Amino acid sequence: MSEKIKRGKISDRCLILSKEKLYSAGVSPILSTPVKQGVLFPVVGSVSSHAGGSDNVSQIEGASMEGCNADVSENFGVAGNLSEEVRFGDVYKIKLQWSGEAYAGCFFQLLTRNEYLRRPISLCGMGDGYVELAIRVAGSGTQELVSRQVGDYIECFGPLGRGFEIPECGLLSNQIQNDLYASDDVERNSENLKKKRYLVIGGGIGVAPLHPLVKELKNKTVKSAYKKHREEINGEQVLEQAAQIMNQNAHVVDVVLGYRDTPYLEDIADYVCVEDKNVDISGYQNASHSNVMPVLEKLLNENHYDDIYVCGPKKMLDAVALACMDSGYNPQLLTEAYFGCGVGACLVCTCEVNYTQKYARVCADGPMFRAKELYIEGAENKSLGRLIKEREEKKRADKQIVVLNSKQVNLAKNTTMADNIDLSNEMDNSLSVNLGGLELKSLLTTASGTFGFGREYNEFFDIGILGGISVKGLKLDETPGNPGRRIAEIQSGMINSVGLQNPGVEAFLRTEVDFIKSKNVAVIANINGGSVRDMVAMAERVNEAVDAVELNISCPNVSAGGMSFGTDPKMVKEVVSAVRQKVTKPLIVKLTPNVTDIGLIAEVCESEGADVLSMINTVTGLAVDPITGKTPLARAFGGMSGAAVKPVALRCINAVRSRVQIPILGMGGIGSARDVLEFLRCGATAVAIGTEIFRNPLLPVEIDRELRAFLQASGISNISEIKPLVD
Ligand SMILES: Cc1cc2nc3c(=O)[nH]c(=O)nc-3n(C[C@H](O)[C@H](O)[C@H](O)COP(=O)(O)O)c2cc1C
Repeated sequence: MSEKIKRGKISDRCLILSKEKLYSAGVSPILSTPVKQGVLFPVVGSVSSHAGGSDNVSQIEGASMEGCNADVSENFGVAGNLSEEVRFGDVYKIKLQWSGEAYAGCFFQLLTRNEYLRRPISLCGMGDGYVELAIRVAGSGTQELVSRQVGDYIECFGPLGRGFEIPECGLLSNQIQNDLYASDDVERNSENLKKKRYLVIGGGIGVAPLHPLVKELKNKTVKSAYKKHREEINGEQVLEQAAQIMNQNAHVVDVVLGYRDTPYLEDIADYVCVEDKNVDISGYQNASHSNVMPVLEKLLNENHYDDIYVCGPKKMLDAVALACMDSGYNPQLLTEAYFGCGVGACLVCTCEVNYTQKYARVCADGPMFRAKELYIEGAENKSLGRLIKEREEKKRADKQIVVLNSKQVNLAKNTTMADNIDLSNEMDNSLSVNLGGLELKSLLTTASGTFGFGREYNEFFDIGILGGISVKGLKLDETPGNPGRRIAEIQSGMINSVGLQNPGVEAFLRTEVDFIKSKNVAVIANINGGSVRDMVAMAERVNEAVDAVELNISCPNVSAGGMSFGTDPKMVKEVVSAVRQKVTKPLIVKLTPNVTDIGLIAEVCESEGADVLSMINTVTGLAVDPITGKTPLARAFGGMSGAAVKPVALRCINAVRSRVQIPILGMGGIGSARDVLEFLRCGATAVAIGTEIFRNPLLPVEIDRELRAFLQASGISNISEIKPLVD
C-alpha cells in the first residue's frame, strides 16, 4: 500500500481527473421527453441494466430505456442546467482523485446537486491516488454527476460495504513463500501449487465492479507470485523449476459478461453475450447472441470452480444464483437496494436473510452476500414473512414468550476518521446545556433511527463530540421491521417505512450501552410499545442503565386499533403518567407533528411529569409514481424527514414553547449550524441531527465547529445564552 493512502473511510471533495463516455443509450419512447428523472435509485454495483439476464429484466432504478417500469419514487420535472446532453441509460467512467483505500465490491456515496440523497456508486477501478467509478445515468442525480467536467469536484465518502471475498492464493501464503525460499526441493512444494479456477459473471452496469475483482483475482495467481520472487532472488535454479510449476498452475478466471446491446467495459471478458441480434459481435472471440445463462450452464458443466462472483440486475442475479446453487455452489452476489445513509445506521436498505428472522442491511452487511445467505425465490430457502408467520404460530402453540437471538452483526473496522479531525478546540464547554436535568456536554445529539447505536458513524468521526445519542427505537423483543421497500426520496428529504427494526431491549442493554458510555455521551433510550404495559415494562428495564428515556408516542397503540398514542390527549395522559412512575431519569416525550393542536399534547405531557419534549417525529407522507399510480413503499404511507420538514418542526416548537415550561429537544431537517440557531430562536434548548447526516457523514463535526466559532466571534460564552425571539 502506498504511504499516501489513508486507512479507513474518508469523506472528501474529489477532483475529477478524467471522464469518458462508455455507452450511449438509445432514446426511449417515454423518456425522450425532456424530463428530469430524480431517481431514488441508489443501487450498488449492479445498477440495473437489463443486459445479460433473463428476459425482460425489471428495472430497479426505473430510468430504463424502456421506461415502462419507471421507478415509483422518481421525481419528474424539467431537467436543470446541464452542461451537455446526457441521456438516461448512458454510462460514463469518471476518474476521481482519491487518497484513501478502496477494494473490489466496495462503493462510494456521491453527493449530487439536485437530489436529496447521495448516490452509491461501486468501485470500477483504482490505482495510486485515484479511483474509477462507472456511472449509469439512472435519474437526475446521476445525470447531474456525469455532467460535471474534468477539473470539477465531487463530494464523496467511502469506501463502504462488504466487498467481494478474495481468497489469498495458497502459494502466496507466507508459510509457503518461506518454504520456497528455504527449500531447493520444489517438487515437495508442488502440492501446494494448486491451480484455482474462478467464474465471474456480470450484466449491464454490473460489469463495472467486476473489473477490480478480476484484476485482483489474476494478480493473486501463483504466476504473478513467482514473478515477484524471481525479481527478488534472480537466477536461482530452484526458482526456475518453481516457475514451470507455477506457470502450469496459474489460476484461471473465466469472465462472462452480458449486455442488452452494445458492450462496454468488456475488455476483461472471455465470453461476451449480447441479446440484441442487430449488434455486430463478429469482433469478439467468444460471443453469442443470448443472455449469460447458456454460457453459464456450459461452463458449470465443463469445469469445477473454486468460487463464483456475480453482479448484475436482480433477475439476472437470481437466475445465475439459482443455477450455481443447483450445481452445488454458493456464489458471491453483489446486490442492489435503495439506500439511505449508506453506512448501516438507518436500516432502510434491508434485504431478506435466508432462514433467519432478520433483515440485513445491504449497505453495511452487504452489498456482497453469499447466495445462501439470502432469500432467493425458487431456491431452497425460506422467506422472512414465512418465518415470522411460523414463529407466531409456534408462539401461540407454546404460549411462551420467544426471546429472539439478538446477536449483532458488526462489521466495524478498527479505523476511524477521528485521527483526521482536529478536536483540540472542542474541549471548552460553550455548547454544554442542561436539558430538563440531563447534563449534556454539547447541545448536539442525534435523532433516533438515523444514527443506529453510534458505531457506524464512529468510523467517520469520534462520536464523543456529541452530547447524547437517542438510539434506534427499541421494543421489548427483537423486531424485524417492515418487509419490502422502506425508502422513497422526495424533494429535499425522504419518506421511510422501516417499521422499527431493532435488536430488542435486552440486546441493547447487553451490547450497546457500554459502547456509547465509553464515548462519554449521554445514552437516550428511545422506547416504543404497542401498549401502555409494554411501554412501562421497557421504561422500567432501561431506567437504570441509561441517562434518559425518550418515550416515542408516535407509535401505534394496538388496543386503540393502531391509533398513534400521540394523537389523543387521553392516551398521552395514560402512557406518560404510567411511564413516569417507573422512570427516575429525565423523561423525554417525543411528539408527533401529525396532530391538530400539538400545544395541547405538550401540556398533557408536562402535567403528567415529562421533563423534556422532543419534536418533531416524522411527518406522515405519501410518494406516488405518476405513471403507474403506485406508491414505492411497501406500506402506503411513511414518515417524512429531512430538510423538507424543518419549517414544520420550527412551527411546532414555536407553538409548544408558549404552552409549557419544560425544555424542548428540537429536530427535523437540521443540516447546518444556522439551522441549529433557528431551532434555538424558536424555543429549543438542545437539538438532534437526523436525516441530513445521510448526506454528510461529518455533519455533527462541522456543526460543532461552526457553532463554537460563531459563539467565539459573537463573544457568547455558552450557547444557552441564545434565547428564543420568535413569538
Ligand atoms: C430512517 C429513520 C428511522 C427513524 N426511526 C425512529 C425511531 O425508531 N424512533 C423515533 O422516535 N424516531 C425515529 N425517526 C424519526 C427521527 O428521529 C426524527 O424525529 C425525524 O426524522 C425528524 O428529524 P430529521 O428530519 O432530522 O431526520 C426515524 C427517522 C428516520 C429517517
